[in-house]
Amino acid sequence: MSRPRRILIVEDNRAIARDLELRLARLGYAIAGATAYAEDAIELAAGADLVLMDIRLAGEMDGIAAAAQIRARHAMPVVFLTAFADDATLRAAEITEPFGYVIKPAEDRELRVVIEMALYKDAAERERRRLAHQVRRAEQLDAIGLIAGGIAHDFNNVLTAILSNSRALADELGGHPRVAAITMAAERAARLTRQLLAFGHDDPEQPVALDLAAHVDRTLAILAPVLGDGLTIERAIAPDLRAVLARSAELEQLVMNLVLNARDAMPGGGTIAIAARDEGDDVVLTVRDTGHGMDAATRAHIFEPFFTTKPVGTGLGLATVSAVVERSGGRIDVTSALGAGTTFTIWLPATAAIPVEAAPPADEAIQLAGTLVVVEDDAQVRAVIREILEQAGLRVIEATDGLDALRVCRAHPGEIDLVLSDLVMPRLGGADLARSLAADAPTTKVVYMSGYPGRSPAARDAGPILHKPFTPGELLAWVRDALESRAA
Ligand SMILES: Nc1ncnc2c1ncn2[C@@H]1O[C@H](COP(=O)(O)OP(=O)(O)OP(=O)(O)O)[C@@H](O)[C@H]1O
Ligand SMILES: [Mg+2]
Repeated sequence: MSRPRRILIVEDNRAIARDLELRLARLGYAIAGATAYAEDAIELAAGADLVLMDIRLAGEMDGIAAAAQIRARHAMPVVFLTAFADDATLRAAEITEPFGYVIKPAEDRELRVVIEMALYKDAAERERRRLAHQVRRAEQLDAIGLIAGGIAHDFNNVLTAILSNSRALADELGGHPRVAAITMAAERAARLTRQLLAFGHDDPEQPVALDLAAHVDRTLAILAPVLGDGLTIERAIAPDLRAVLARSAELEQLVMNLVLNARDAMPGGGTIAIAARDEGDDVVLTVRDTGHGMDAATRAHIFEPFFTTKPVGTGLGLATVSAVVERSGGRIDVTSALGAGTTFTIWLPATAAIPVEAAPPADEAIQLAGTLVVVEDDAQVRAVIREILEQAGLRVIEATDGLDALRVCRAHPGEIDLVLSDLVMPRLGGADLARSLAADAPTTKVVYMSGYPGRSPAARDAGPILHKPFTPGELLAWVRDALESRAA
């Protein structure tokens, strides 16, 4: 049963006030207080669910003015008590958006109906405000997604150039600390973009086999600067863990959100234990902390979007985690108690496939043979790609867009093994280029790279896409796989 509603009585006729108190108590309401003064009423209203207000008070401030203040300050429903149901009074009271009128003297039944209607209207209004607030936040997020999507293409090109150059420089200089700092910062920027993009866009990319341990390690490395000194990280990941079927950026975000929540729960320091092992058809990931934990009431809501207990939280962390788990066909569980820490357990479907990032040993030199056309409108990115591919032993011909690529391919005397093309380009786009080439040179395979998250309509039949920014290792593995699949 719910607790009785608390009613504040504001009435300067003591006999009427006393009578109301008795009757309201008899009707099952609690009395939050009774006063004859508007000023007191404004203070006392904080502890009530509803205010019964004499429309004419004897003091300086009349009931209508007091009601206006109570509405403004406490957003509290006010029901007017009046002996005068005349038009002028009612019109004056209208500005306070009253929740009802009780005409004195009133019967119990009438009193009760007016109060219940007012409470109902108040609850409905609160719910409407809450929903409006949620809708506004969702719209803001949508807008962020749109803006981010708009700049992503160019931004990823810039990052690809920075990352590739700084990695190349690191090789040349044999690991200079300042170059390493540049690389780390650029990697962080790349991840932030991806995280931002993951919001606004429903990424239709298919899940692939991923190495969970590598994702955990990478995420911990990214988070290291924000984890603070008082935290101990315990890592217990089974060495021969199977790969999981998921999307890389999502998996990283999942780990990131869980670790950040664990950190937030331990302002005075503690331990974050991350473990992973095979179990049946799944890989089980647990993230445990020794933080302040949650009571049952909080635990019941944590996966809801916008639910947060933090002053500056978005309440999207765990909503994102559960969406990622759901999209991957897994499930999530949480155990927690106040003062006893929290453990999140996540089951992700395992796969026998070799994880994609295990394929390119990033630092080991990959050697390839063949002739490639690189179609990319950004000169910086084109130059970087060319350098990486040439170092791996490939012959590279550059083209600036689809039309240029067609011209280059037709002019080239020998066979072209692969066309690595940007998907979205000014003149002829990647997909149109592939169609035109298919007629000329059926043995030439076209693969795509893209700075756009997810899949643009142009890429519907394009097969897997290499997403920018990519590392040299990822690019080489990609090209190697494309060359092999062509041979097969
Ligand atoms: N490890 C944890 N220990 C205790 N409470 C937690 C833990 N993880 C989540 N919670 C509770 O769940 C709520 C929702 O978490 P969620 O990650 O969705 O949002 P948030 O952390 O509040 O905001 P943001 O993720 O934007 O920082 C938190 O506000 C907190 O009350
Ligand atoms: Mg969070």
